[in-house]
Amino acid sequence: MLRSLSISSIFAVVTLAVFPAYAQDVAAGEKTFKKCVACHDIGADAKNKVGPALTGVIGRTAGTYAGFKYGSDLVAAGEKGLVWTEEKLAEYLEDPKQFLRDYLGDTGASTKMSFKLKEETARADVAAFLAAQHEATNAPAPSDTAGEVAKVEEPAMSVEDVIAAQEFSEAFLSDPANVEAGKEIWFAQCTHCHGFKAYPGKAPKLKPAKYKPTFVFKRVYKGFKKMPAWKDTYSVDEIRQIVAYVKSPEFSP
Ligand code: HEC
Ligand code: HEC
Repeated sequence: MLRSLSISSIFAVVTLAVFPAYAQDVAAGEKTFKKCVACHDIGADAKNKVGPALTGVIGRTAGTYAGFKYGSDLVAAGEKGLVWTEEKLAEYLEDPKQFLRDYLGDTGASTKMSFKLKEETARADVAAFLAAQHEATNAPAPSDTAGEVAKVEEPAMSVEDVIAAQEFSEAFLSDPANVEAGKEIWFAQCTHCHGFKAYPGKAPKLKPAKYKPTFVFKRVYKGFKKMPAWKDTYSVDEIRQIVAYVKSPEFSP
């Protein structure tokens, strides 16, 4: 009696723990996905960037998104039967090149995706987020949530209005909380292309002394030529914090 009671209470605990954990995975995965958006777009009208659009990637054969020039080994993996599931995707992210080598049994296999995500929980979370996106995209009736997840903020004003509305006081720019928050985003995101860690030649070395804060805001919010727009990834407040970091004395381009 005592024994069966304790077993059923264990079940109760496990069941209770599973559902909230799932919800959290998707939310945490949405955050992790910010590491991907430099190269990957998602959502109904996603475009190919440095990497292929990831709309509906769960359930898709590897290397088949229309209009993207994949590496030949990822295409070969798709031809061999690789279909992206949450599990496969999480595994791939740990080390895309090694994953392809193992999958194809070819030690010379390579990939155009140089990014690795080592942390296991983050990989599972971002895979759960992509799967949830997929469900939202495939839902019979288009729901608000599909757009909501892809767009952090939908400003009521036009892009130009938002840019024109920015003012930067000395107090805002020198607030250590703003500088710190902006710095975190810089190293999570911008250093894919800018700075000493980036592939050479990917993007110009920034010369912050030459920029007005409003110029930095405009470039980051709206993008310019090969510089991606970040307005759908970061809120206006977050982009203002990036500006504070770029204009701060501790910024290292
Ligand atoms: C620095 C750019 C870059 C970053 C950052 C990046 N990727 Fe990629 N990704 C690529 C490229 C390029 C490819 C195409 C690989 C190839 O053709 O060999 C790719 C391919 C993929 C594929 C295979 C898609 C398909 O159609 O078969 C998946 C899935 C993927 N990436 C997921 C992610 C996720 C999730 C993240 C963030 C955790 C991420 N990537 C971050 C550049 C990137
Ligand atoms: C996918 C690569 C990429 C990423 C990621 C990226 N940038 Fe850029 N950025 C560029 C390129 C390329 C240019 C040059 C565009 C041009 O003028 O042709 C540029 C230009 C800029 C400029 C204007 C520089 C000038 O002298 O005109 C600023 C400011 C800037 N980026 C800030 C950022 C910040 C802040 C982030 C992170 C939120 C970021 N960039 C992320 C590629 C990137």
